[in-house]
Amino acid sequence: MTVTETPAAAGSVPAPAPSPEAARRAFPPGFAYGAATAAYQIEGASAEDGRTPSIWDTFSHTPGKVVGGDTGDIAVDHYHRFREDVRMMADLGLTSYRFSLAWPRIQPTGRGPAVERGLDFYRALCDELLAHGIAPVATLYHWDLPQELESAGGWPHRETAFRFAEYAGLAAEALGDRVSTWTTLNEPWCSAFLGYGSGVHAPGRTNPADALKAAHHLNLGHGLAVGALRSALPAGSRIAVSLNLHAVRPLSGHPDDLEAARRIEAVGNRIFTGPMFEGEYPADLIADTSHLVDWSELVHDGDLAEISRPIDLLGLNYYNPTVVSSAGNAKDLPRHDGHGDSTHSPWPGAEDVAFHLANEDVTAMGWPIDPTGLSDSLTSLYREFGVPLLVTENGAAFEDVVSADGSVHDPERIRYIEGHLGAIADAIEAGADVRGYYLWSLMDNFEWAYGYGKRFGMVHVDYDTLVRTPKSSAHWYSQVIRRGGLA
Ligand code: NOJ
Repeated sequence: MTVTETPAAAGSVPAPAPSPEAARRAFPPGFAYGAATAAYQIEGASAEDGRTPSIWDTFSHTPGKVVGGDTGDIAVDHYHRFREDVRMMADLGLTSYRFSLAWPRIQPTGRGPAVERGLDFYRALCDELLAHGIAPVATLYHWDLPQELESAGGWPHRETAFRFAEYAGLAAEALGDRVSTWTTLNEPWCSAFLGYGSGVHAPGRTNPADALKAAHHLNLGHGLAVGALRSALPAGSRIAVSLNLHAVRPLSGHPDDLEAARRIEAVGNRIFTGPMFEGEYPADLIADTSHLVDWSELVHDGDLAEISRPIDLLGLNYYNPTVVSSAGNAKDLPRHDGHGDSTHSPWPGAEDVAFHLANEDVTAMGWPIDPTGLSDSLTSLYREFGVPLLVTENGAAFEDVVSADGSVHDPERIRYIEGHLGAIADAIEAGADVRGYYLWSLMDNFEWAYGYGKRFGMVHVDYDTLVRTPKSSAHWYSQVIRRGGLA
């Protein structure tokens, strides 16, 4: 049963009632009830309408890099099925949709004029969303760097930041009449440290100095893009960045564990929030990593002023807390990092920190479920930076089972979402200005190095037929939206 065949499908499976402990509170008026996706994970059509390979095409086609040799060549064929997908979002009652623009569709070589056919796809997608009353939120960079720019040096190369700003300006000129909320980068920590440090993400390089350089150039690209967006967008448009800030917790109060937490916060979080919100890199980060890069050479005069241009919203992507200790205090404890297997650390300057499970209640990714990390992060981010917040991603993969009648019952995902929406309500009650929630993900898709085996969707996708079927979590979320909260 597809959603297109049965537009009323959103009500066809009785949704379980929320558990009593979460039965509380409405969200503020105007709160965005969204879902999120990213271009390479859903679009497919990898060689159509002038699109050229990105680093993820190259990486996924390299044997051994992605589980099962999966690629995004077809993905879930959203490029051809976007009208059906938007109708499905409307049936579910979403008020907003966060997607990303594929840079190699818009500027195939990473330079020069925009390709109209590439832009036309996003114009049509936005028109469809707006016609259904769904507010588009566009992410400019969700990891698909044009391969030509990687071949010219990639993010460790300063020039890439300027190329990104040029692309941002082109996208804003073409789509600014339709898209009023933009996010520059998605999870630059992953781009820098999984892409150039541990190598488990594209482009698969493993050099800690390059990872740090990439982080600075991503920051610079963000700042330059904010400038380009401000000049091209109509007044009232909102600019954000989506960061996967780690909710870091020391395993104990032992000074060595506190020191481990400090190091991870520095290279995991403050490497982005420092320059973006405070106009400087933290002194302790520089001290931790100065044996790897010469920061005074890396950061040019004027860079920090660019990076710290004011933004309107901070997007937080949150999945689980990060519990750390010093390696010495971790003897005999099971280790957990959650960022895939690599002999190369994604944590320059913090290589000997040990990672632990916050608890044994884990998703199919092995990520511990603990919504308090979300409420803590939102509360402290708002207190620290005073910028309105969006939860631009939150969600979970589970081993979904398709029943004989084709439906998918995923009570674990409902429990996960319910807990995290409750955490947002807690943070709002504690004073944080949180403006919206984007569930990761609208539908099952290409989960990067894990391929299609890990399903994060509230909508199931049959990978043989590409038929979409809302899971019971989608019906449940739909009820939350219609009700305006968990109460
Ligand atoms: C973060 C990324 O932005 C998204 O692309 C990914 O699929 C989810 N987390 C789940 O790992």
